[in-house]
Amino acid sequence: MLGRTAGLALAAMVIGTACAQAQPQTAVERGAYLVETVMTCHNCHTPIGPNGPDMARAFSGGTPVFDTPAFRVRGSNITPDRTNGIGAWSDAEIEKALREGVRPNGIPLAPPMPTGFYGVLTPADARAIVVYLRSLKSSPTKVEAPVYRAAFEREAFPGAEKPADPASLADKVKLGEYLVTIAHCMECHTPRDRGRLDFSAVGTGRQEFKGPWGVAVSRNITSHPEKGLGAWSDAEIKRAITHGISRDGTRLKPPMGYGMYARMTQADLDAMVAYLRTLPPRE
Ligand code: HEC
Ligand code: HEC
Repeated sequence: MLGRTAGLALAAMVIGTACAQAQPQTAVERGAYLVETVMTCHNCHTPIGPNGPDMARAFSGGTPVFDTPAFRVRGSNITPDRTNGIGAWSDAEIEKALREGVRPNGIPLAPPMPTGFYGVLTPADARAIVVYLRSLKSSPTKVEAPVYRAAFEREAFPGAEKPADPASLADKVKLGEYLVTIAHCMECHTPRDRGRLDFSAVGTGRQEFKGPWGVAVSRNITSHPEKGLGAWSDAEIKRAITHGISRDGTRLKPPMGYGMYARMTQADLDAMVAYLRTLPPRE
């Protein structure tokens, strides 16, 4: 629901990007594609209105609120406002925040910001995101300051510790792995053990998400034939990712950003599916 509205609001713009696929993309177009679709930044950085993310206030932050024993933080204002956004940060500082989860003042970003997955960004993609963020409309919204109550550790996702080699992404499965990583799918589709992702059970789901929709529990998306996606067709997997419809036709709940993933190119979606099929079957 949440992602769907965002996707609709963005449709015109992103379709424009898709049509331009034949020509080489500029950095700002590539950044728009990554931020608005596969990386679902709106999910955490755009205030939620009665009909989902409020695009008139895109990226001005304030919601959602992540309240845990260790911290209480909100999605930040990531528009170019120099006082309340990130307009005064240098390109290198923005990139460092994305890749390493550290602000220019040295204060680490709390884990809801999935920087443990963004270390894998290629230099060109990280640069494209910065260029696109700089092109956003500034918002003066001041977001409530984060409260840190206890130490937290940054969790680098296995394989996301360093930038991917751009040449390797010509391979469909490698491209799919890259996209699934930057889409932070496994942050939600991996169980947590005392707050930390259990890397021995990647893809098996079982995390709970509470919200206005009630409770949603992430599912097993490994290649397991009964518990996972092993018996699903490619079309069924893509329908689940982009339309939030499970194999049996039931509607899937937020917070997964279906509507944003729906704006990905077919080639990118195909690559994601090809990669998911290589995940070892786990119960
Ligand atoms: C799952 C939620 C989530 C997603 C997805 C997400 N962020 Fe964040 N982000 C956060 C939260 C929460 C914070 C604030 C953390 C804190 O205060 O410690 C944050 C902080 C940031 C900051 C630091 C801003 C500041 O003033 O300190 C930047 C820059 C940023 N995000 C950019 C992005 C971009 C670009 C994307 C998409 C590529 C993105 N984020 C995706 C949750 C998210
Ligand atoms: C913010 C958390 C989150 C993210 C990110 C996320 N998912 Fe999900 N996903 C969920 C939840 C929760 C469900 C189950 C919803 C329900 O039961 O109604 C789900 C359901 C699914 C399903 C349906 C499975 C079934 O058995 O019906 C598939 C397939 C899926 N996700 C794949 C992905 C892929 C691929 C990505 C990355 C492109 C992704 N998810 C990113 C939370 C997430």
